[in-house]
Amino acid sequence: MAERQPEVKQGAEDQGRAGLGSPELVLRGLRSVGYLPNERIASVVYLGERLAKPVLVEGPAGTGKTELAKSVAAMSNMRLIRLQCYEGLDEAKALYEWNYKKQLLRIQAEQVSRPGSSSGPDGATSWSELESDIFSEEFLLARPLLAAIRAPDPVVLLIDEVDRLEVETEALLLEVLSDYQVSIPELGTIVSTQTPLVFLTSNNSRELSEALKRRCLYLYIDYPSVEREQEIVRSRVPGIGEHLAAQVSGLVRSLRDMDLKKRPSVSETIDLAHTLFLMGAEEITPQLAADTLHVLLKYQSDIEKAAAELTAGGSGPSGSYPRVGTAGR
Ligand SMILES: Nc1ncnc2c1ncn2[C@@H]1O[C@H](COP(=O)(O)OP(=O)(O)O)[C@@H](O)[C@H]1O
Ligand SMILES: [Mg+2]
Repeated sequence: MAERQPEVKQGAEDQGRAGLGSPELVLRGLRSVGYLPNERIASVVYLGERLAKPVLVEGPAGTGKTELAKSVAAMSNMRLIRLQCYEGLDEAKALYEWNYKKQLLRIQAEQVSRPGSSSGPDGATSWSELESDIFSEEFLLARPLLAAIRAPDPVVLLIDEVDRLEVETEALLLEVLSDYQVSIPELGTIVSTQTPLVFLTSNNSRELSEALKRRCLYLYIDYPSVEREQEIVRSRVPGIGEHLAAQVSGLVRSLRDMDLKKRPSVSETIDLAHTLFLMGAEEITPQLAADTLHVLLKYQSDIEKAAAELTAGGSGPSGSYPRVGTAGR
């Protein structure tokens, strides 16, 4: 039988992971793995680790929330354990479930080796023995939350798109997030031997419960500044010219200022930059921008609106939206 985990909780200092050093080191570490954070991102990540608190990362889709958790794992050589949330996710998929098939086999094997034993005079004892056997760790299937708690090595736990869970299911997370432990009625409480670095992401599709928020540090990741987005483009599309990268981020910024159903995300900026780069374009003309809008915008009404502005020569109501910048030429 597998040994139970020791029920001793260790502090953030003695958990066998080196720590992140300082916000400055986090900033550099993230950059070294291709993630370009701003100072706020670096400092909240640092604090989350220092205080052993989960970080709740909220913001529009495609602004680098998931990528942040992956990059923190990559920069610190930690294993990433990911729980992708969706409506209908339950305890059996998030925490643990019993391996029923294996339990049944175990019971059958017992019957073969000791036929009739459960109805004999010592039936009661052998059943309770069998019961404690089949509800032991050997028969437990650890799902991401329990896997992170039980991990012997330092891990990053990513609870992705937590706003997709029903409010009631959110409660499943609370024990893990506040005490880094999981209670299993048949087995007892499993307490982590190292504090996982936890990131929760949310696209803001609904308000999260107060109880959940209270346990976390909060980080809002908005669309990046034009300069940072330009840098992101250059790091994700190696070889792209500075001028084209600047134009792409300028165009995207001006589109985000429009009243659209769905604003373009950073991933879409990267897609456009990639497309133009592959097309061999050195710069975006208003016509080229209009022709490639479908890479950035995913609603026909948005595409038509933006195309109309572009072909009208960029003289929109509040100045010139959308614009094809000419900076750096
Ligand atoms: N700060 C950043 N540095 C580098 N790449 C980024 C950054 N922000 C976003 N990206 C890029 O945008 C893509 C989408 O980010 P993702 O983390 O999936 O967004 P979401 O916020 O929806 O989880 C990533 O694959 C990554 O390439
Ligand atoms: Mg995501």
